[in-house]
Amino acid sequence: SSSVLLQAEDAVLAGGVVEANHAGYTGSGFVNFDNVAGSAVQFTVTAPSGPTNLLFRYANGTAVDRPCALTVNGAPVTTLSFPGTGNWDTWTTRAATVTLAAGSNTVRLAATTANGGPNLDSLAV
Ligand code: GCU
Ligand code: CA
Ligand code: CA
Repeated sequence: SSSVLLQAEDAVLAGGVVEANHAGYTGSGFVNFDNVAGSAVQFTVTAPSGPTNLLFRYANGTAVDRPCALTVNGAPVTTLSFPGTGNWDTWTTRAATVTLAAGSNTVRLAATTANGGPNLDSLAV
């Protein structure tokens, strides 16, 4: 089960802006990824070492997937799909299991297409 909730709006952004103009987010807003390949959000996750479930909460108001490359501590893990959720006010979660090192880890999502990533609310660890 998840025990720590990290807000996307508190993460390090490389091509994205914090906004709050679509309902249903938690915390103080969400990250609107710039609609370009490579726009990214990077979280710092402190956890015990070993397999850890990540739950990304997002909205994608388009009908087109917004895939993002997931890296942990700079190492590619996988590409996660972020399919459409119907509208920008409808949020859902995308899960991934990763292996973390003991202590501080970077968890980064970077858009792989020119559409950028989804709107990202949070990461539950
Ligand atoms: C709209 C929406 C944004 C979203 C953007 C997109 O402009 O209001 O929140 O990020 O579409 O297509 O990425
Ligand atoms: Ca966007
Ligand atoms: Ca949020």
